[in-house]
Amino acid sequence: MKKYVLTEDQLPSHWYNILPDLPRPLLPYLHPVTREPVVPEDLAALLPQAVIEQEFSQERWVEIPEEVRNVYRMWRPTPLIRADRLERALDTPARIYFKFEGVSPPGSHKPNTAVPQVYYNAREGVRRVTTETGAGQWGSALSFAGSLFGVEVAAYMVKASFHQKPYRRMLMETWGAQVFASPSELTQAGRDILAKDPDSPGTLGIAIAEAIEDALSRDDTRFALGSAMNHVVMHQTVIGLEAQRQLKLAGDYPDVVVGCVGGGSNFSGLAFPFMADRLSGERPVTRFVAAEPTACPTLTRGEYAYDYPDSAGLGPLLHMRTVGHGFVPAPIHAGGLRFHGDAPTLCLLNDLGHVEARAFDQNEVFREAVRFARTEGFVMAPESSHALRAAVVEALAAREAGEARTILFGLSGHGHFDLAAFDSFLAGRLEDFELSAEQLAAALGELPKVS
Ligand SMILES: Cc1ncc(COP(=O)(O)O)c(C=O)c1O
Repeated sequence: MKKYVLTEDQLPSHWYNILPDLPRPLLPYLHPVTREPVVPEDLAALLPQAVIEQEFSQERWVEIPEEVRNVYRMWRPTPLIRADRLERALDTPARIYFKFEGVSPPGSHKPNTAVPQVYYNAREGVRRVTTETGAGQWGSALSFAGSLFGVEVAAYMVKASFHQKPYRRMLMETWGAQVFASPSELTQAGRDILAKDPDSPGTLGIAIAEAIEDALSRDDTRFALGSAMNHVVMHQTVIGLEAQRQLKLAGDYPDVVVGCVGGGSNFSGLAFPFMADRLSGERPVTRFVAAEPTACPTLTRGEYAYDYPDSAGLGPLLHMRTVGHGFVPAPIHAGGLRFHGDAPTLCLLNDLGHVEARAFDQNEVFREAVRFARTEGFVMAPESSHALRAAVVEALAAREAGEARTILFGLSGHGHFDLAAFDSFLAGRLEDFELSAEQLAAALGELPKVS
């Protein structure tokens, strides 16, 4: 079969929370000022109560509210597709499957968490939510969700992307959101950056700082984060839970699960339901491979330490792999992979050897995305192209070994708003960027001291 499709009544009823199954507990979040472990009340000005409870929940299964499932039904369950044409092009005995999240209205996996986050805010009477967005995928997902539940959305969009990707801004505005190029003059965090560097292209860390400051300054406003935190990762597990059922239909089980990592939400969402089988000992040899850009190599070269999620040090300190909250990555087209840290759960599993990581450069991933477009048809987002490249590396290794391995990769979003980047690649104008040792040392030198 080419694709494995579930019916609407097979939509998962619960999200999977990996916290109770981790081999070792996460280190606590720390308050950015006191450096004491964060307690739920510390987050009350930022997040709705239901989300705070989920952030710390030790329940393995958390019910998906019917109102959220109703919205998920607009595009979920998403298809699992066998990339048999790519397999033939690679002349590999491997079976390659991809879980295609590009079919949602905003075009990526991001609404899997935007919808519940906005739903919980609306239920608790919050009128407005602020957020950061890089390439605009997350901002458009939140704008879409805001339009469904009557919640205003204000998105601080990384300035480089604001100019590179005008169509994402237009999409957000079509769903009724306000979009500001970050750094902006609207917040102290933005003004401080602009005073030092009026031409700052912005970073996700700066945009997060602005969105947090905005939310803290108004009673009717909360903040929504698109990745990294536990509740976000948990909402994304609908991806992996569906994929498990679909692979069962195919009579298959992955030898390796692959995804791209910005803050870690789509990779973890796909991987964690399978990771549960590895951690329980039921499937102890399944491998997990996280793919990231050489321009922002958090898992492959970052330090495992406490760091802020934002440039201004307003958010809680997270224990994660980081290249430093002050680091400004090169303006690669995979804007969603330019985050300086990663989800603490994913970093812990990486540290314990359950997740491998690989970094790829820009030209390498675009070359792969074009081959995919010419074999499987879909033009994917530059972020997702990192996962594809890692999957192809696995398929070539299977050919080398002469083994019919099963590879599952996450295709997190379509690339219809990224065609200018494809154009640059095809015209030979795409630069490669690698984080230099000096840049890395300088960024790590600014890590907060936590005793
Ligand atoms: C299409 C797509 N894939 C992947 C990512 C990376 O985010 P995460 O690691 O949270 O899945 C993004 C982020 O914006 C994205 O837009």
